Amino acid sequence: MTLLRTKTVEQSIRDTEEPGHRLRRALSALDLTVFGVGVIIGTGIFVLTGQVARDKAGPAVALSFILAAVVCGLAALCYAEFASTVPVAGSAYTFSYATLGEFPAWIIGWDLILEMGLAAAVVSVGWSGYFAALLDDVGVTIPASIAAPPGDGGTVNVPAIGLVLAVTALLVLGIKISSRVTAVVVAIKVSVVLLVIIAGLFYVKADNYDPFIPPSKSTEEAGGLAAPLMQVLFGITPATYGWLGIFSAVAIVFFAYIGFDIVATAAEEARRPQRDLPIGLIGSLVITAILYAAVSIVVVGMQHYSELSTEAPLADAFKANGHPAYATIIDVGAVAGLITVVMILLLGMSRILFAMGRDKLLPAWLSAVHPRFGTPYRSTIIMGVIAAVLAGFIPLAELAELVNIGTLFAFLVVSLAVVVLRRTRPELPRAFRTPWVPVIPILSVLACLFVMINLPVETWLRFLAWLGIGIVIYALYGYRKSRLQRSMEPAAKR
Ligand code: ALA
Repeated sequence: MTLLRTKTVEQSIRDTEEPGHRLRRALSALDLTVFGVGVIIGTGIFVLTGQVARDKAGPAVALSFILAAVVCGLAALCYAEFASTVPVAGSAYTFSYATLGEFPAWIIGWDLILEMGLAAAVVSVGWSGYFAALLDDVGVTIPASIAAPPGDGGTVNVPAIGLVLAVTALLVLGIKISSRVTAVVVAIKVSVVLLVIIAGLFYVKADNYDPFIPPSKSTEEAGGLAAPLMQVLFGITPATYGWLGIFSAVAIVFFAYIGFDIVATAAEEARRPQRDLPIGLIGSLVITAILYAAVSIVVVGMQHYSELSTEAPLADAFKANGHPAYATIIDVGAVAGLITVVMILLLGMSRILFAMGRDKLLPAWLSAVHPRFGTPYRSTIIMGVIAAVLAGFIPLAELAELVNIGTLFAFLVVSLAVVVLRRTRPELPRAFRTPWVPVIPILSVLACLFVMINLPVETWLRFLAWLGIGIVIYALYGYRKSRLQRSMEPAAKR
């Protein structure tokens, strides 16, 4: 069936050698790990921790971070096998093209564009909040009307737009420049996180951990379309706190880990992909999981969960303990740190578009590489502008959930695809093999599904609408123009 036509792994690798479509191989295992940590630590830990502890999980938010890490870890084991077998730009998109077929690959590519584009916008808005707080610390106040989107008390978020456009320009100039910038910023960010953990320990009060899992209570607000799908499916009364609260917190703090999958999108730029990619993927995930668990335990110990701030919980916990100087340092770290997140998210997205353009599922014009900078500049600029518009005009709290559902869906497909590729191409060299196949992939699928049903019904509806649009575009364009389709047709028809 043509919808399931697959592009062979060898074909995928050959395509990367084509002149004019070739990316530079410049990244080492360390670059990739730094890259991963750079995109993983961001709005999730700096902003969402407070919100989630206050509204959903209480001090047990650390459990939510650990559970989310387990879900990501299972998926990372699957990603690592794929990334080391098919080291080609495009991540889950490329993997599924080689295994599940063109249509599922298109759906995944489309889904990843949603994930990364929206995530870049979400993080830019988180950044603009810290940026405003930092300027405030030095006595400069940005008027709310130009620092927040409509619906959040403003007209347009100018700092967020400015950030996205500046990052886009850096990416067009070339990946080596941007990864060097990334390394410096990641060092600052990790230092700030360590500062929170170490300095914060001195202000922890045991009382704040009691009760560690606040008793579940039912809420009106969490009803209707805002209720998690699980509660609607199983007729459970909408509730916060308790174990249900911890699970719905997992569905949100999951955002904090998004990014390790993007390491895989840089496959084509890795010097020794077979070895470096698994190290980059799993290394960055383990590092951040440890940091998150520690930060969240410390922060809920410093301040009672019901009092945590929702905009800048880490900095504000220090302010509440009478240490505004620490708060300013944390603001600086967040401002510097979130920039790399936006940068790598946009990079990942432009690389997926690049891969889809090269396969002619989207116009091939998109995938041309800049003659001097060696970067896919057109897809970078187009996606940068779209993300800037989203960042400037859309209030983003709920959009983070949309990012999560998209990412979980991609994880789910990759996990399935590991099993499929073991059956269809058992002989392929795999530098990294997922342990206990098919047990790990199946657990990964179940874990992703479980987190997905903990997301609200309205998030599911928005996600399905996005997929619906993608299906229409594929039917009207990619299905006929696909390079694979052309190569299967007799010469006369081409
Ligand atoms: N994991 C990234 C963040 O938390 C997307 O900002």
